Amino acid sequence: MKLSDKVAFITGGGGGIGAGIAQAFAEKGMKLVLADINLAHAEEQAKPFGDNAIALQIDVTSLESWAVAKAVAYETFGRVDVLCNNAGISQPRQPLDQVPPDTFAKVMAVNTTGVYNGVVTFADDMRQRGSGHIVNTASMNGLLAFGTFGAYSASKFAVTAMSEALRDELAPYNVGVSVLFPGLTRSRMSEADIASGDIPEEVAAQGLTDPVYLGRAVANAIENNQLYVISHPVYKAVLEKRYAEILAAHGQSAQEAFGTSD
Ligand SMILES: NC(=O)c1ccc[n+]([C@@H]2O[C@H](COP(=O)([O-])OP(=O)(O)OC[C@H]3O[C@@H](n4cnc5c(N)ncnc54)[C@H](O)[C@@H]3O)[C@@H](O)[C@H]2O)c1
Repeated sequence: MKLSDKVAFITGGGGGIGAGIAQAFAEKGMKLVLADINLAHAEEQAKPFGDNAIALQIDVTSLESWAVAKAVAYETFGRVDVLCNNAGISQPRQPLDQVPPDTFAKVMAVNTTGVYNGVVTFADDMRQRGSGHIVNTASMNGLLAFGTFGAYSASKFAVTAMSEALRDELAPYNVGVSVLFPGLTRSRMSEADIASGDIPEEVAAQGLTDPVYLGRAVANAIENNQLYVISHPVYKAVLEKRYAEILAAHGQSAQEAFGTSD
C-alpha cells in the first residue's frame, strides 16, 4: 500500500513507539489520529503535525470508547486506512502465581482485548472497502517467554496469534496485517521498567532504540505487505533454540496410527 495521504489511527499515540510510528507516517505524508488514554500526551504528540493530526482519548479496553473514537476519526478525515493497535502496559516482574488477579486481568484487557477491540471496530470497514492495513504491536515477549514476565508474555503471544489469524482472514480482501516485535525501545514504559529494576540488567545494558526507527520499519512493512517486523534481531539465536526444541519434540505420534513427523 502507498502511504501518502492515507489516514492512520494509532493507539498509544501519546509517546514512545506510538509516537515513533506517528513520526515515520508523517514523513510519508499520512494523516494521523493519535489516540491514547492520556489525552494530554496525545495532544502533545499531535501538535507538531498541525492540521494533519488530531488527538483523542480512548480506552482500548472499551468497545464503546472505540466507537466514539472511530466516529471522530471518520468525521475528521473520512476514513481510516491503517490501524495501529499499539497501546500496551507492562507488569511488575513476579512469578505467575504471585501476579495479583487484577494485574493479570488488566494486562490481558489492555494488551490483548485492546487489540481485539480495534480489529472489531475497523476490520470490516477495510474488508468492505477492499483495502487497508492493520499493525499490531506485540513484543519479543510475544515470541519468547521467560520467568517472572508470564502475564505480559501471555498477552503478547495472543497478539502474535491474532495477527497471524487475521492475516489469513483479511488477505482475500486486500487488507494487510503486520505484527511488530520490539525489543527494548525508548518510552515511558521502558524507562519506568528500568528505573524499577523490572528489566533484567543484561537487557537494559543493550540500550534503548529510538522509536522512530521502529516507526520507519512499520511504514516499510505496510508498503511491502510484510507480516513480521523484527526491529531487534539480537534475539535470533534464542528464537532458534526455542524452535529447535519444539521441532525436536516431533517424534513418533502419541498414538501410533496418527503417524510420525516424517
Ligand atoms: N518500549 C519497549 O521496550 C517495548 C518493547 C516491546 C513491546 N513494547 C510494546 O510497545 C507498545 C507501546 O509501548 P511503549 O513502550 O511505547 O510505552 P508507552 O508507555 O510510552 O506507550 C504506551 C501508551 O499506551 C497508552 N495506554 C495505556 N493503557 C491504555 C488504554 N487502556 N487505552 C489507550 N491507551 C492506553 C499509554 O498512555 C501510553 O501512552 C506496547 O504495546 C508495549 O507493550 C514496548
